[in-house]
Amino acid sequence: MVSPECAPVVQAGGLGDVVLGLSRELEIRGNTVDIILPKYAEMRYDRIWSLTLDYRDMWVPWYEGAIHCSVYFGFVSGRKCFFIEPHSRDNFFQRLATYGYADDAMRFAFFSKAALEYMLKANKRPDVIHCHDWQTGLLPVLLFEIYKHQGMPNQRVCFTVHNFRHQGLCGAELLRATGLNRAEYYFHSDRLVDNFNHSLLNLTKAGIVYSNFVTTVSPHHAWEVLSSDQNFGLGDTLWVHRGKFGGVLNGVDYEVWNPEIDSYVARRYTADSLDLKYDNKRTLRERFWLRDGFKPIVAYVGRLDSQKGVDLVRHAIFYSLRNEAQFVLLGPCPDPSINRDFWHLKHYLNDNPDCHLELRFDAELAHLVYAGADMLVVPSRYEPCGLVQMIGLKYGTVPIVRAVGGLADTVFDRDHSDRPYEQRNGYVFDNADYQGIESAMRRSFGLWHCYPEEFRKLMVNGMRYDYSWNFPGQHYLNIYEYIRHK
Ligand code: GLC
Repeated sequence: MVSPECAPVVQAGGLGDVVLGLSRELEIRGNTVDIILPKYAEMRYDRIWSLTLDYRDMWVPWYEGAIHCSVYFGFVSGRKCFFIEPHSRDNFFQRLATYGYADDAMRFAFFSKAALEYMLKANKRPDVIHCHDWQTGLLPVLLFEIYKHQGMPNQRVCFTVHNFRHQGLCGAELLRATGLNRAEYYFHSDRLVDNFNHSLLNLTKAGIVYSNFVTTVSPHHAWEVLSSDQNFGLGDTLWVHRGKFGGVLNGVDYEVWNPEIDSYVARRYTADSLDLKYDNKRTLRERFWLRDGFKPIVAYVGRLDSQKGVDLVRHAIFYSLRNEAQFVLLGPCPDPSINRDFWHLKHYLNDNPDCHLELRFDAELAHLVYAGADMLVVPSRYEPCGLVQMIGLKYGTVPIVRAVGGLADTVFDRDHSDRPYEQRNGYVFDNADYQGIESAMRRSFGLWHCYPEEFRKLMVNGMRYDYSWNFPGQHYLNIYEYIRHK
C-alpha cells in the first residue's frame, strides 16, 4: 500500500480507515502487506509502536540532483508501516497540516517517487502496489516509464480513487523534478494533461491511465462517475479505461466498530440484548447535557463540508427540534465559512436541552454517539462510499440517507425498497432538498413513536448485515490476481 493516510496515525477522512482495514484483511488471508507513508511531523506518534530507523541513506533523484531521505519502520495497529523522511529545504512533510499547501502536488509526487526508490533499494518487489487517491497517482507513471527499466519489471498497480473532487493539478515543473523528460509526450490528452486546463497535469488522471486496474469505493459510485456528472471532468478518461475500472464497496473494521466488544461505550450490546443500548443513550444524554424524555436522538457524525450537505444537516437539526426529537452532532468543520456558521448555530442553541453540537473530531466520543443515538442522518450531496452509515447499522442506529454513491448500495428504505422486509434497514430519500430529507425523517419519527416494535426490527435488520472487510477483501484479492496474470 502506498498512501498519504493511515488510521489512526494520520487521517483526514475515510481513506485512512480503508488503508488500515483492507491491509489487515489481506494479511489475515495470508498475504504480506507493507504500508508506505510520508513521515509527517504531525502524526499520532503515540500510536506507532517501536519506531526504528530502517534505511539510513536513500537518495531520491529530484531535478538534476537528489534528495537525501531516511526511512523508518514501525507497527500501526499491528500493520507494518514504513515512513519516508526527506531531508531538504523543501520541508515536504515537516509542516503543521497534512494538506493545503501551494506545493501539495510536488510534495506527493516526491513521495510517490521516494516510495518506488525505497522498494528498489530495499529490494522489495511486491506483486501488486496499491495506490490511493491523487497523492499517489504519479506512482504508476514513474513505475512504468522509469523504474520498470531499472529492476522492477513485474510489479502491477491497482489505483483506488476515494474522492474525485480532489485531483491534484500541477504544472510542467513536476515532470522536470521527477525525471519524466519529454514534456510533449506527457502533455497529451491520452496521458497526463488535465481535460479542462491544457497547461496543467492531472495526477488522478495519471493514475487512471497508467494503472493496471482502477477502482472507486462503491459500485453505485462507479456507475455515477461513468454515467452522471459526478466525475468532476474525468468522465471521458474513465470511459476510455472502463474495461479496467470497477467499484468495490469499502468495509468497516469490526475490530474497532462493534458494539459487542467496544471499550469506549458505556454498555456493550448485541442484536439479542438490544435493551442494553439504552444505557448508552442515557450516558450520551448525560455527557451532552440533554434532558431525559421519550424522544429519539438523531445524530450526525463526520466532517461538515459542502460534499456532506451541510444545509440539510442544519435543516435536520431544526426539524428534529420541532418534531419531538433530540439532535447531537459530532464533527469538525475544516471550511472557515461553514465553521463560522456552525459556531453561530452552536451558540444560538446553547441552552436548548434537546440539542448538542460538538464541533471537533473525536474518535472515542464517536463510539458513544453511535451507540447512544437512535437514528443517524447522512444527507450527502456526493458520497463515494461513506463509512458512517455502515457503522450506524452495526450499532443498531437507523440511518436516514440520501440515495447517492455508497449510501445507495448499503441502506435500503423500509417503505419503498424492493428488497424483502428483513433486508430493509433504514430510510432513503432522493432529492437533496428540505422536502426530501423531511419526508424520510417524518417516516422514521413516526415509526419510532407509533410502532416501537417495528422500529426495533429495523434496527436488528441493520445489525445483521455484514459490511466487514470480508467480502471487499476477497474482491480486491481477485483484482490483484487478475492483474498479476494479465
Ligand atoms: C472519501 C469519500 C468517502 C469514502 C472515503 C473512504 O473520504 O468521500 O465517501 O467513504 O473516502 O473511501
